[in-house]
Amino acid sequence: MSDEERRESWSRYWASGALHSCATSFAGNYDDDIGAFWREACADLDASSWVLDLATGNGPLPKLIADLCPDLPEIDAVDLAEVRPAWHAGLPAAHRERIRFHVGIAAERLPFAKGRFDLVTSQYGIEYSDLARSLPEARRVAGPQARFAFVLHHVSALPVRIGRAELEHLAFLQQDGGLLAAARQFLPRHAEGAGQGAPRAAFDAALKQVHERAQSAFAPDVLHETLVAVIKLAQAAPSLGPTTVESQLAALSQHLADDELRQSELVAHALTRVQVEAMAAVLAPDAAFELRELRVRGELFGWGLRIR
Ligand SMILES: C[S@@+](CC[C@H](N)C(=O)[O-])C[C@H]1O[C@@H](n2cnc3c(N)ncnc32)[C@H](O)[C@@H]1O
Repeated sequence: MSDEERRESWSRYWASGALHSCATSFAGNYDDDIGAFWREACADLDASSWVLDLATGNGPLPKLIADLCPDLPEIDAVDLAEVRPAWHAGLPAAHRERIRFHVGIAAERLPFAKGRFDLVTSQYGIEYSDLARSLPEARRVAGPQARFAFVLHHVSALPVRIGRAELEHLAFLQQDGGLLAAARQFLPRHAEGAGQGAPRAAFDAALKQVHERAQSAFAPDVLHETLVAVIKLAQAAPSLGPTTVESQLAALSQHLADDELRQSELVAHALTRVQVEAMAAVLAPDAAFELRELRVRGELFGWGLRIR
C-alpha cells in the first residue's frame, strides 16, 4: 500500500474527530497498565524537556502529557496524515504554543535537528512505518541521554484479535452478492418506488445473513453498524431519491474500505517479542531496556517498551 493511500485513509479517520484509534476500548481516558506506563515514562518531564511523539494521530499522548504535567514540556507531534486534534484549540495559549502538530510528516524523514529530543514516544504508531528507516531517524533526533517509550501492537493482543475478526466481517459484507452489493442493486430502485421482486428478495436475504452472523460472531460491531446504516437508508430511500441514496451508499462503501485498510495495517504491523527486542537493539544497542505486556481491564492490549 502506498504512503498516499495510507495518508488519505487515516486523514478521513482523524477528520471524524476520534481522539485515538482504539476509541471504544479506551473510552477517552487512560487506565490500567497503559496509563501507568505513560505516567512512569513522563514522570520526570518539565518545562525544559523536549518530547517527540511519532505517528501521533489526533494527539492522545500529547493531551495526556498536557493533563499530567503542569510544567508542560515542549512537544512536537508528527503524523503522515492530516490530523484534527480538536482538544488542542481549547488549551490555554501558553500550553497551546508548546504543543506543535506537524502533518504530512513521515517517521522515516523527520524535519528536526540531530539530538534535539529528550524523550521520543509513540503509541500504536511507529510500527506502521518502515522500521529500517524510522528507527535510525528516531535515534538521530534523540539526544545522547534521551529516552524512548513506545506502546506497540502485540500479535496476541485484543485490538489485533478484533482486527482479524473485523477483516473477515468486512470481506463478508463487501463480497459479491453480499449486503453492500444487494443494497446497490435494490435501494436506488426502491427510492424510485420500484425494485420489488428479485432485487428486494436478494436484499432481504443479505440482511438476514448479516443479522445471523452478528448473533454469534466475535467483534460484531462492524456488522451491527452496517446493518443499522443500511436499514436506515432503506427506510429513508423513498424521500431521499435515487441520487442521494447512491451517494450515501458510496460513502458507506468508502467507510468500510477505510476500516479494512486500517484493520489490515494493524494486523500486519503487530509485533512479536523478538521483533520488539530487535527494535530496542537498533535504538540503543548499549542501553538497558524494559519490555512488558500491557493489560487493560484484564485483556492484553500491547507491548510497553522503555529505553533509558
Ligand atoms: C493506530 S494510529 C495511532 C495514532 C495515535 N498515536 C494514537 O495513539 O491514537 C497510527 C497512526 O500512524 C500514522 N502513520 C502511519 N504510517 C506512518 C509513517 N510512516 N509516519 C508517520 N505516521 C504514520 C497514521 O497516519 C496514523 O495516524
